[in-house]
Amino acid sequence: MAHAKLVLIAAAAVLILCQIPRFANAQLRQNYYANICPNVESIVRDAVTAKFRQTFVTVPATLRLFFHDCFVEGCDASVIVASTGNNTAEKDHPDNISLAGDGFDTVIKAKAAIDAVAQCRNTVSCADILAIAARDVIALAGGPSYAVELGRMDGFTSTAASVTGKLPQPGFNLNQLTSLFAANGLSHSDMIALSAAHTLGFSHCSSFASRIYDFSPQNPVDPTLNRAYAAQLQAMCPRDVDPRVAVNMDPVTPRAFDNQYYKNLQQGMGLFTSDQVLFTDARSRPVVDSWAQSVAAFDQAFVAAITKLGRVGVKTGANGNIRRDCALFN
Ligand code: HEM
Repeated sequence: MAHAKLVLIAAAAVLILCQIPRFANAQLRQNYYANICPNVESIVRDAVTAKFRQTFVTVPATLRLFFHDCFVEGCDASVIVASTGNNTAEKDHPDNISLAGDGFDTVIKAKAAIDAVAQCRNTVSCADILAIAARDVIALAGGPSYAVELGRMDGFTSTAASVTGKLPQPGFNLNQLTSLFAANGLSHSDMIALSAAHTLGFSHCSSFASRIYDFSPQNPVDPTLNRAYAAQLQAMCPRDVDPRVAVNMDPVTPRAFDNQYYKNLQQGMGLFTSDQVLFTDARSRPVVDSWAQSVAAFDQAFVAAITKLGRVGVKTGANGNIRRDCALFN
């Protein structure tokens, strides 16, 4: 009898061990919703695709929203929560003010589509919906497809104060970028791979104005900027420009998720200091060069990095819940 018990325990241990590789992270796993809401991924994909057909902005907006969510209090949809009379939420911090509304709307629409299915109603976290939607917009823009890990809970807090110092600034140098990403468990190469998200979307002129007008007393224009590109940027962003004006971050293929970002850096066409420094700093240049040359190598690094991004500060069990409305605490 005791022997049979031992065999059973050993068999159970083997079973558990066999499961580990499928659990890429202690808390997250693919197919988390298999028995809860089996079609969640296709429901989200359909909602994201419908939104994408209305506006391409869905793509950069959703991808950036995911990043800003994960770097502040972890990937817990805290960035989606609306401010109330007695709480200024993350989304109203100056670093988040330029998050495009279409990213929030994408999650809200996907959540509504999920909740329209009786079995799925209020069973899928807003944090997971955002992770799936981010994966889907990358594919819609021609980027790599990947299996997304799920099982995140939604967070209980969202304050503007918690954002301060947590997000990278466009004027950052390599050490500042590396250490901020490292604080989130992301390596130097993860940081370079994720920065390629700037192959899509827009930036307001204010985010790089100092590079084209007030770089230094000797050089009003940042000398690492391609001259012709600097002139184009000055034409699009005159000194007294309307603060709402925004320019494409990848001037060559602004609507394609591709490795053009790295080719631009090689030409001095990185929009922010934090982009261009990846090429000007000799410590990161070899990686930029290799991903400018190989789409396959870049795609592989990007998928690994965004999967790691999706694990940052994840909440499980009693540390989180499933919000009925992504913008409000239950
Ligand atoms: C590496 C450090 C990074 C810095 C300093 C940075 C900074 C910025 C800034 C200043 C903007 C423009 C905001 C505006 O003026 O409207 C922007 C846009 C954007 N960022 Fe980043 N970012 C970084 C990394 C990332 C990462 C890791 C992702 C996603 C994985 C990302 C995705 C985006 C996207 C998609 C946009 C365009 C948004 C739109 O068109 O609505 N960024 N970023």
